[in-house]
Amino acid sequence: AIERTFSIIKPDATRRNLTGAINAKIEAAGLRIVAQKRIHMSKAQAESFYGVHSARPFFNDLVSFMISGPVVVQVLEGEGAIAKYRDVMGATNPANAAAGTIRKDFAESIEANSVHGSDAAETAAVEIAYFFAGTEIVG
Ligand code: CMP
Repeated sequence: AIERTFSIIKPDATRRNLTGAINAKIEAAGLRIVAQKRIHMSKAQAESFYGVHSARPFFNDLVSFMISGPVVVQVLEGEGAIAKYRDVMGATNPANAAAGTIRKDFAESIEANSVHGSDAAETAAVEIAYFFAGTEIVG
């Protein structure tokens, strides 16, 4: 089925001018970027977005990292977009990521891992709505 997923190009990637290189991998995989904007998240926004991880030991560092510079938030659309984008991203830890994936080619560490993608349909819908109005998504 045609799905939409939510993506973030993280501060480590925007800092190194990798937005276009990451978008090229996304598009080469057949995913369409149907919404995109560059923002600087507030601390409250990052804490709320990653609220599911609030009890984890890496939570404070993760929030600090995500507000350390601009990010690019995106909506990606395509056949099986949620699983497909997870394949394109590669494993959370770049040390475990497969060849040719975004994280293998670009990520610096498990924290500075260049991209985020939704893990399921329910979270995708919530994450998209967190950053985009319906009118900003043009399929
Ligand atoms: P992301 O897909 O954005 O979801 C949560 C993020 O926490 C994850 O990518 C990593 O960037 C970050 N993170 C930092 N440390 C860890 C860790 N030890 N395990 C999992 N995620 C981590």
